[in-house]
Amino acid sequence: MAIKRVDDFDLNNKRVFIRVDFNVPQDENLNVTDDTRLKAALPTIKHVISHGGKAILASHLGKPKGQINPKYSLKPIVKFLSELLGFSVPMANDCIGDEVKKLVDNLKPGDLIVLENLRFHIGEEKNDPQFAKALAELCDIYINDAFGAAHRAHASIVGITQFVKDVGAGFLLANENKYLSKLMSHPERPFLVILGGVKVSDKIGVIEKLLEVADIFLVGGAMATTFLKAMGYNVGKSKYEEDKIDVAKNILEKAKEKNKPFILPTDVIVTDDLKSNFKKCVHINEIPDDMMVVDIGEETKKIFCYEITSTKTIFWNGPMGLFENPAFQEGTFAIAKCIANLNNVVSVVGGGDSAAAVRKSGYAEYFTHVSTGGGATLEFLEGIPLPGIKALDRY
Ligand code: ADP
Ligand code: 3PG
Ligand code: MG
Repeated sequence: MAIKRVDDFDLNNKRVFIRVDFNVPQDENLNVTDDTRLKAALPTIKHVISHGGKAILASHLGKPKGQINPKYSLKPIVKFLSELLGFSVPMANDCIGDEVKKLVDNLKPGDLIVLENLRFHIGEEKNDPQFAKALAELCDIYINDAFGAAHRAHASIVGITQFVKDVGAGFLLANENKYLSKLMSHPERPFLVILGGVKVSDKIGVIEKLLEVADIFLVGGAMATTFLKAMGYNVGKSKYEEDKIDVAKNILEKAKEKNKPFILPTDVIVTDDLKSNFKKCVHINEIPDDMMVVDIGEETKKIFCYEITSTKTIFWNGPMGLFENPAFQEGTFAIAKCIANLNNVVSVVGGGDSAAAVRKSGYAEYFTHVSTGGGATLEFLEGIPLPGIKALDRY
């Protein structure tokens, strides 16, 4: 079977429901603090309206759990979308119902409307057939461009496809599918994986899968601390997962059995106060009892970059340190710079915080692909078929 893409359809005068992932970070005044997901949806939106389609955009935002809550309204997001598109985008007060139907009926070819948060209805997360049918009634063609939410079997992602004849992927979803599939099925070798971030526990599945597919591993971030602890090092007051020490030991054992280098930091940056700028670089043998690891060290940066330079494919998930504090961002940014300097390499970053870190470094444009997915990307790489992609696979 195959999946159709938005440009496979005659869109002229058709009502086109586009499921987007506008679940973007906002500050306390509800301003969008990272518009990557909005920008990533623009090619599909522009394609639909420039081909005479009547675009109906729908998304979730946050977790309002079936309750109307102004904090999770898409209205502030639409303000940012309007700026990106260069015209004022109208917005409905709901996502189903007579009033919404009327607004949709009044659309002309090339028009666009954004529906209110899908999760204001409990039926969305429950994949309720009645709610899915009510959404389906709004359109002739269903396009899913919400890769970041494709791991959710929700009504606007799965249920709706049972009630619409023509369904397909937007450009963003199709691209994510292409790059991430290629990574796992035909990577050019050597294939190097960089792991970091906070938890081993969130990532066991994907690490085990990558242990089968990739050739060499570099590990930083708080994740490295759990591995260092498993190897018997004192990690002071660092963040690590006590109950995942055995899992870490098992992963180290597997990497050894498979003869795949699993490289941990040789030195780290430590501090006694997460909010301060105080830091020093110490060897992993000398982590003080009253300090915590917040970044990879100077020697480790060099070793990691040296390994990175001799690879053909790179997948990176998890920042090397607590990059939200500029004092502890150097390790992460050094790795981003090292990758950005390479030619003829496929480099893919996945994970919400990892993508944010790479963008913050200023090197994002030099990567082959910066995934818009968090959980979706990790599940995809783990080999779990994403319900949102499966639901489109019918031709
Ligand atoms: P992603 O969202 O890309 O999958 P994670 O959520 O696993 O990544 O991890 C990101 C978080 O890890 C960031 O908030 C970063 O501050 C944190 N982090 C990385 N290294 C450390 C460390 N040594 N100590 C504490 N937190 C860390
Ligand atoms: C994400 O931000 O990862 C997606 O939008 C999915 O959101 P969810 O975790 O609230 O389902
Ligand atoms: Mg995260």
